Amino acid sequence: MSTESAQEFYGRWARLYDVIARRTPGIAQLRRRAAAACRLEPGDTVVEMGCGTGANLPYLRERVGPTGTVIGIDFTRQVLERARAATAEYDNVSVLRGDATRLPVGAEVEAAETDGGGGIDAVLATFVVGMLEDPVAAVDDWCDLVGPDGTVVLANAARSEKWYAPPVNAVFRMIVILSTPPTTRLHYENDPHIRLDEKIDAAHARLRHRSVAVVDETHVFGVVRLTGGRLE
Ligand SMILES: C[S@@+](CC[C@H](N)C(=O)[O-])C[C@H]1O[C@@H](n2cnc3c(N)ncnc32)[C@H](O)[C@@H]1O
Repeated sequence: MSTESAQEFYGRWARLYDVIARRTPGIAQLRRRAAAACRLEPGDTVVEMGCGTGANLPYLRERVGPTGTVIGIDFTRQVLERARAATAEYDNVSVLRGDATRLPVGAEVEAAETDGGGGIDAVLATFVVGMLEDPVAAVDDWCDLVGPDGTVVLANAARSEKWYAPPVNAVFRMIVILSTPPTTRLHYENDPHIRLDEKIDAAHARLRHRSVAVVDETHVFGVVRLTGGRLE
């Protein structure tokens, strides 16, 4: 998916996406679990890449408390407006428009990265790497951004490998096709859910390779993979 079509797609569907991101059954537990996997302490700094409408931000804020810092980054203006409105009550949560694959993004991230800013303790990216041209390079950049003892956490929906996978995967394939522009095509030369799976496999494998596992598990009938690693 190109940058322009991703921004156009999420811009147009920001409102609907926000409802799905917050209200899908089981999603709140998953977001809480992903935030916990970031191993944050009160006062820490966490950056969320591709934060969308900000559904993870309250859980991250809960972890770092009032003295910590939460920075959400996304390149789609309309989703960021929702994220900003949803977190307006917190003065230590900021959302920035920028490309998560071109770091550093903005003065806040640069300031946090320096020793004076205490460094970035964790990076979280949920349902994002499948959209990136080079997810492995992005994972490398995020690992470099947190540095030694920092944590990187990925959560993504990919094909289930459970024994009951076929019907679950059929539903999943339909969701991917419907949420991958152009949504009107029924036949693809390169089926988007297979390409998506490859990207997600590669990103999670890279994180496992670069870090020591703190969490590696599946949720929602095996469709959602959650991998977290501590950098050495
Ligand atoms: C499926 S949504 C996930 C949003 C959020 N992480 C969540 O869990 O609800 C993917 C988001 O990633 C953003 N995105 C994709 N590629 C990006 C990039 N290179 N830089 C910044 N944001 C990006 C899109 O704008 C979209 O808001």
